[in-house]
Amino acid sequence: MAEHEGALGAVYEAKGAEEVAALYDNWASTYDAEMAQFGYRHPSIGLALLARHLASGAAPLLDAGAGTGLIGEWLAIMGYPDVEALDISEGMLAVARSKNAYRALHTLALGGPLPFADGYFAGIISTGVFTTGHVGAEGLDELIRICRPDGIIVLTVKNTVWEQGFAARIQQLVAARLVSIAEETPPYVSMPGEKGTTPSRGLVLKVLPR
Ligand SMILES: C[S@@+](CC[C@H](N)C(=O)[O-])C[C@H]1O[C@@H](n2cnc3c(N)ncnc32)[C@H](O)[C@@H]1O
Repeated sequence: MAEHEGALGAVYEAKGAEEVAALYDNWASTYDAEMAQFGYRHPSIGLALLARHLASGAAPLLDAGAGTGLIGEWLAIMGYPDVEALDISEGMLAVARSKNAYRALHTLALGGPLPFADGYFAGIISTGVFTTGHVGAEGLDELIRICRPDGIIVLTVKNTVWEQGFAARIQQLVAARLVSIAEETPPYVSMPGEKGTTPSRGLVLKVLPR
């Protein structure tokens, strides 16, 4: 049986990036209202972690898997005025664009090469993206490459992804002194209003000088 029903269940069971993008394109116009109904917590927790580890005004930032831009509006309020958005779904980015919260929006897929220079971003945030059927450990290396030394990467990671190679990859990256773990939250449920949500954790990586 599917872990979730409706739009969420469909995206968790999507087979491949194109299907994920198409499902989010269709969901975009009602995403904010539905996630609010579920009591969606990842953006608030991600934002709190970012603000704890990255000085106000740090720029530029990347919202990776920005979706409809839930975080973009809050980032500006919290003193991070220069943020770019990246997402695989044009439909989600169209909603994000309408909020005028991002300096640039990029339709791109995490998990492959990204067209940004080494160390370009002062910080990166990605909430609700390292999750079932979306992005796994294969998305990490490029985010680390494009984040500057002493920069911060804030991720939420679903337990299933964590156990399927993500934790092992983090261990390797720490051992190779590419990143250190600045903070890791205990597992929490990202959508208290949705039955059977698998817990996730918040993770803050510090990119080390290379
Ligand atoms: C649950 S939503 C989270 C959106 C936003 N970060 C938030 O917290 O509301 C997941 C987002 O990840 C995007 N996504 C899924 N796979 C992706 C990939 N490989 N590359 C970039 N974005 C992806 C989807 O299009 C969707 O907008």
